[in-house]
Amino acid sequence: MSDEKIPFLDLVTVHRELEDEFVDILKTALSTAGFIGGPMVHGFEQDFAQFCQSRFCVGVGSGTDALRFALIAAGVGSGDIVITVPNTFIATTEAISQAGARPDFVDVDERTYNMDPLMLRRYLETKCTWDSKSKRTFNKESGSQVAAVVPVHLYGQMADMDPILELAAEYNLKVIEDACQAQGAEYFSKKKDRWLKAGSVGHAAAFSFYPGKNLGACGEAGGNTTEDEHIAQTCRLLRDHGQSKKYFHDIEGYNGRLDAIQAGFLQVKLRHLKKWNDQRRDIAEQYGKLFACAEKAIKLPHQPEWSRSVYHLYVIQVPDRAQLQKKLDEGGIGTGIHYPVVLHLAKAYERLGFHAGDFPVAEKAALHILSLPMFPNLTSAQQKRVAEAVIESAGVPL
Ligand SMILES: Cc1ncc(COP(=O)(O)O)c(C=O)c1O
Repeated sequence: MSDEKIPFLDLVTVHRELEDEFVDILKTALSTAGFIGGPMVHGFEQDFAQFCQSRFCVGVGSGTDALRFALIAAGVGSGDIVITVPNTFIATTEAISQAGARPDFVDVDERTYNMDPLMLRRYLETKCTWDSKSKRTFNKESGSQVAAVVPVHLYGQMADMDPILELAAEYNLKVIEDACQAQGAEYFSKKKDRWLKAGSVGHAAAFSFYPGKNLGACGEAGGNTTEDEHIAQTCRLLRDHGQSKKYFHDIEGYNGRLDAIQAGFLQVKLRHLKKWNDQRRDIAEQYGKLFACAEKAIKLPHQPEWSRSVYHLYVIQVPDRAQLQKKLDEGGIGTGIHYPVVLHLAKAYERLGFHAGDFPVAEKAALHILSLPMFPNLTSAQQKRVAEAVIESAGVPL
């Protein structure tokens, strides 16, 4: 057996392959001093909006900026509550707090790890009241307005959006998709009777182009997509100190612009994204076949018939995660845990007063999940080695 290391993520090969095009982007930026705004940012925004089948894209500095700007632009403000899930990267809840609101949580579906619409319904029906005069929803205990819901398309798979959108319409909530891990993911909407792209479904969406994402920059970058002209325009103001023109500040904003060089790199990479997502899907299918003999010991990712995941991560569950991760590490195989601490139990959120047992599905998953190597150029030989090592450690005969 080869003892060559298998990384969790290979970010070197793809950049080597595209190096000449990246150097051209750098030369263009240097020769024009076009570092902020300009044609590369506009070009990428147009291409990404088209890719997401969305009317507008606004390039921003990071996924966290994108979430914060989308929430503020959608009208979330001081004292509001925004509902999300506990098993996400902290940026989701940071953005909610930074918009002036308080994060609250509903549990997830145990097979998809995404927001469980039944739990959202239960939250709205039991913990909230509807004020028919203002047409707003209020949390019974705190009296705060529940302003929005942020479903997270975790691991590259979209949340079950039809029922979430229906509830949001019933309770007058804005829906902001956290699509940071889901560039290119699709959802079959029974209501619309067609496949919808991540970023085209809610009132607005936030994407991260952090280097390790399916579409990643060579530094920090993010983007908003929306159908709503007012939201798009407000995100544009927010990313640039609230300026409608130089030194004319309509509102207070942020320094949250997308860097032109990163936009140029992203535009080059976007041309390859469909191919890379297809490769990830093939790899996921291959893992499924390799693990078929160990179904009882290893819980595999579940893709409902209404979902076309882009497998940002390939996450399995095993009874003894620590032992498996150690064994794989000893065998030179990189892994990750996304995420080891559910946010309602994170130290940062002690002030919110949650307890162990509040969101049992997310809490249980956090103890057992393990992300295996997943990137477009993972070879079948590497995959076979990963699968053999996992099956051997999970104690199931090959
Ligand atoms: C689900 C989720 N939300 C938000 C973010 C924040 O994105 P960024 O790191 O670009 O600020 C990330 C990125 O790691 C993410 O995975």
